[in-house]
Amino acid sequence: SIMHFVHKETAMPTKNKRLLAWVEEIQAMVKPDKVEWCDGSQEEYDRHMKAMTESGLATKLNEEKRPNSFLFRSDPSDVARVEDRTYIATRKKEDAGPTNNWIDPEELKTTMRGLYDGCMKGRTMYVIPFSMGPIGSPIAKIGIELTDSPYVVVNMHIMTRVGQKVLDTLGEDGEFIPCLHSVGKPLGPGESDEGMWPCAPIEKKYIAHFPEENLIWSFGSGYGGNALLGKKCLALRIASALARREGWMAEHMLILRLTNPEGKQFHIAAAFPSACGKTNLAMLIPTIEGWKAECIGDDIAWMKIGPDGTLRAINPEAGFFGVAPGTSYKSNPMAMDTIVKNSIFTNCVLTDDGDIWWEDMNVKIDHGIDWKGNEWTPESKTPGAHPNARFTTPAAQCPIICEDWEDPAGVPIDIFIFGGRRTKVMPLVHEALDWDHGVFMGATAASEPTAAALDVKGLRRDPMAMLPFCGYNIGEYWQHWFEMGDKLGDKAPKIFYVNWFRKNDQGKFIWPGFGENSRILKWMCERVDGKVDAIETPLGMMPQVKDLDIDGLDMNEKDLEEILEVDTDAFVSEFDDLDSFVNSVSTTLPPRMEKQVAAYKARMKNS
Ligand code: OXD
Ligand code: MN
Repeated sequence: SIMHFVHKETAMPTKNKRLLAWVEEIQAMVKPDKVEWCDGSQEEYDRHMKAMTESGLATKLNEEKRPNSFLFRSDPSDVARVEDRTYIATRKKEDAGPTNNWIDPEELKTTMRGLYDGCMKGRTMYVIPFSMGPIGSPIAKIGIELTDSPYVVVNMHIMTRVGQKVLDTLGEDGEFIPCLHSVGKPLGPGESDEGMWPCAPIEKKYIAHFPEENLIWSFGSGYGGNALLGKKCLALRIASALARREGWMAEHMLILRLTNPEGKQFHIAAAFPSACGKTNLAMLIPTIEGWKAECIGDDIAWMKIGPDGTLRAINPEAGFFGVAPGTSYKSNPMAMDTIVKNSIFTNCVLTDDGDIWWEDMNVKIDHGIDWKGNEWTPESKTPGAHPNARFTTPAAQCPIICEDWEDPAGVPIDIFIFGGRRTKVMPLVHEALDWDHGVFMGATAASEPTAAALDVKGLRRDPMAMLPFCGYNIGEYWQHWFEMGDKLGDKAPKIFYVNWFRKNDQGKFIWPGFGENSRILKWMCERVDGKVDAIETPLGMMPQVKDLDIDGLDMNEKDLEEILEVDTDAFVSEFDDLDSFVNSVSTTLPPRMEKQVAAYKARMKNS
């Protein structure tokens, strides 16, 4: 560290006083062997990959099959986001609200300082300057992640914009969001990880957010959103709180552009909970003549009202961190064509020819090495890839990425879509009666419990797909949505709700999904254009059967009628579930939401 201070005098890559002071303060606490500032270069990426390959943590894939790509296996205890170890620390409990784990910030800092003390011994602390959003965009934000994980460094290279340009934009007194991360496993003298994934046991993991100071502290996990702090922690939890204070929106939404046969563009932002095909929709290939879709983002949208009064969206990320299992040339050909090179795979199967594989890839293999490093064949009793195995891949490699996806001004959003996964009751598509009704639709979005949570009774409500990601009180978040509608006025996007997942009595999906979803998007665009009428139902505005084109689909008009039906009795029988969810918001429930609930119930009962 004497070396470090000498070095600092001569060649620090920034003069930002707050940044230098923070790095020094954290260094004194975590006590790394070295500090290294990341420049985001290819040389840096290659150097880390080489070191991690040599140590056994990474496996280089067959250069012929998948150039410049690598496979990692995490510790079996460190495979996903840890919601019950994720905290929103605000002075008042009310400010975190009923959907978040609250903890007193001073108490949490005391606990975490104890864990951080000396936690980087034997390791290097990397300083990663990154931009969420195109560098210099009025919507973008700068973060600095301090981490002891080179795996995080290479993933951040892909998922964000890293390097000197960020520090240059930050300047001497620019603002940044400090993000501290440690895998929580110090090394003794001469000790190494032996090629094993370092992390701390679950009871020492903390994913902590301090929205009142725009601060993130993460400890003990090296995986995904727990460790790549630009994504869920910064771009959703911290940004959602910031966005409310500053009058913009940070949402868990994909962004896509649809162009109709006349060349008119429509921009769609859509929010779905995990496992509802969000990444697939983000990269869909329309099956309808003359329509074109292009991808702008697959997970997060930051939106500000532009000078022309429209809602302008950017994708703050630079890569896709997608769930691998289920991704195939059938479900998502564009994702498959994105991950052909320069990609990182985590917890996938390693095939005998040095490539990767996962369940439902639509490719047959006879043998491989599973995500735990064991021999695997199709006869094995456990999945080869972990269900939350991931690819990290540059968005720019997506064959249908929008040419101007990095336009700092963003794209004007015409359509918001919410949705969930329901085999019964919820129809294929409906449209909000007005903005406030649309906010109600998003706020009460629900999925049936999945196989992973069969013990859950009733529906899993996931407001705007933000349940795990809203960094403040959910009632105030809904109020913010209402107020954004007031500000947008007649420039507000139209709001829709979809359910691709209805099943018939034989348990078969009725709607084909995937690229065929373009048929529903087309109807939405025609609604925006005022080209088609809709029927008013107690649920909202709905298409007439004749206005949905099912030509060439393996379904008939009766099927379509079935999935467009509004069964008011079924909705009435869910009032208790709705009430208990809405009332759990208690003191911060906006009166406008109460009004929506009452109006909805009246429509359902009186029909
Ligand atoms: C994700 C998620 O990883 O929403 O994007 O869980
Ligand atoms: Mn997500």
